[in-house]
Amino acid sequence: MIQIRNLWKKFGKLQVLGGMNLDIQDGETLVILGPSGIGKSVLLKHIIGLLKPDAGSIDVDGTRITDLSGPKLLKAIQHMGMLFQGSALFDSMNIEDNTGFSLHQRGGFSEAEIKDRVDYALKVVGLEGTQKKMPSELSGGMRKRAALARMIVYRPKIVLYDEPTTGLDPIIAMQINELIVKTKEELKATSVVVTHDMFSALYVGDRLALIRDGKIAHIDQPGEFLKIDDPMIKFLYRSISQDPRSLKEKNQHGRSD
Ligand SMILES: Nc1ncnc2c1ncn2[C@@H]1O[C@H](COP(=O)(O)OP(=O)(O)OP(=O)(O)O)[C@@H](O)[C@H]1O
Ligand SMILES: [Mg+2]
Repeated sequence: MIQIRNLWKKFGKLQVLGGMNLDIQDGETLVILGPSGIGKSVLLKHIIGLLKPDAGSIDVDGTRITDLSGPKLLKAIQHMGMLFQGSALFDSMNIEDNTGFSLHQRGGFSEAEIKDRVDYALKVVGLEGTQKKMPSELSGGMRKRAALARMIVYRPKIVLYDEPTTGLDPIIAMQINELIVKTKEELKATSVVVTHDMFSALYVGDRLALIRDGKIAHIDQPGEFLKIDDPMIKFLYRSISQDPRSLKEKNQHGRSD
């Protein structure tokens, strides 16, 4: 679904992406791991066309989006959704208008159709009945779910999540993990999830990838990934070993160090 070839990106003297190659399969959920500042968000922004590489290409569903700009780029990315880390709602709009915003923007939808889609998206994220509420009346976790509803309302085929569970309490983080899996199933979407939360990575990921030196250092299915002899992966593994939520996962993957 997404082919990234020899992607290079520099900011000033800082080489962030250094010849990255990555294939993301149709319908999979790929988790991107790596330390802060390594270029995870930069990678997502290239996939959705917000940043242009210095060299290299990205093909999405057969279209070379790195060659496009303006209206052609907008058309090519209309089946993509991105949940930004802040995932802010518009404070002055109620939840119904927030959720339907992109449909109004895109045009071509009748009011009845927008209402149906908004009601359905809010139901998927467990926020039915909140249509007339203002964002300030919702809790942080509910606002995060409303942001997710706003993204899924136009049924993207590719969904990019930048640290969807960071800063949330464990129960809400778990609800978001479940929604990521549900979104993938409902929309048959291809998903890319950037996270520091190893528990979330194992819960949602079909494959995990580690970024290092502007490239993909390792990529594999969760069980195999955790067995890779790499100090960073051992460190990530220890982070879940210390997470009480992970007892079940730990037993499943059966690694003892
Ligand atoms: N538009 C930009 N202009 C200049 N430098 C940038 C820009 N965007 C990102 N960078 C730099 O590129 C590097 C990678 O940034 P990026 O946001 O991708 O990190 P990250 O892996 O997402 O980190 P975190 O886990 O903290 O979110 C950082 O050093 C950042 O300062
Ligand atoms: Mg980031």
